[in-house]
Amino acid sequence: MHCYGHAFNVVSLGDIMKNATIVLGSPNAKGNTARLAEAMLSAIDNESISIRKIELSKLKRINHCVGCDSCKKNETRKCVFDDGLNDVIAEVRKSDLLVIACPIYFFNFNSLTKAFIDRLFYSSEINNNENLLRGKKVAVLMTYGLTNVIDSGAKNALQSFYDISKFVSLEIIGIVYGSFGDDQEQNELLLNKAKNLGKTINKEILA
Ligand SMILES: Cc1cc2nc3c(=O)[nH]c(=O)nc-3n(C[C@H](O)[C@H](O)[C@H](O)COP(=O)(O)O)c2cc1C
Repeated sequence: MHCYGHAFNVVSLGDIMKNATIVLGSPNAKGNTARLAEAMLSAIDNESISIRKIELSKLKRINHCVGCDSCKKNETRKCVFDDGLNDVIAEVRKSDLLVIACPIYFFNFNSLTKAFIDRLFYSSEINNNENLLRGKKVAVLMTYGLTNVIDSGAKNALQSFYDISKFVSLEIIGIVYGSFGDDQEQNELLLNKAKNLGKTINKEILA
């Protein structure tokens, strides 16, 4: 006697959901950068994209990369400093998208963001042509105090993001930058750009 069973394709939520990590490099949880990030997050399709938000300033302490190369000598590619950033790095490696949100301090991204960037990208690099982050998508949000991208020094941060992305073969899917001031119309324009980035992320990640 033959027994005919039904074959089900079980698709778990984990298979459908995409993962994104947003790393807030500003020490101000309610500052300009966070405001821009919230606008972007408000447009994200939360049913299909699981977003993990990490505030670097809330991590206990962040050591700076010392170039010891320990991360190159172990299979897990973990940094020798087990200070909480390792969990963030592991999270980013599992993500389809990384969003970096940072303020400009002295004509480049602030040092908290730089510490994260050094640790993430150095530990994920296998050699010049291979990287554990290769092919991931990245988006960037930046705020500054001065009036434009040149005078503020955001141009330097932009150049760095372009250089890093090229080196690691990350795909930049959007960058939003600007300053919040007294002009409410300008502020709204900036927030709208961030919302549009959220919509772009939905399209790019779920495509
Ligand atoms: C230490 C420090 C350095 C700064 N350097 C710059 C700068 O070089 N260019 C600029 O346009 N704004 C500069 N700013 C202003 C900040 O980039 C701006 O206020 C930003 O929106 C702050 O973001 P937050 O509210 O998330 O902290 C600086 C602010 C601080 C505290």
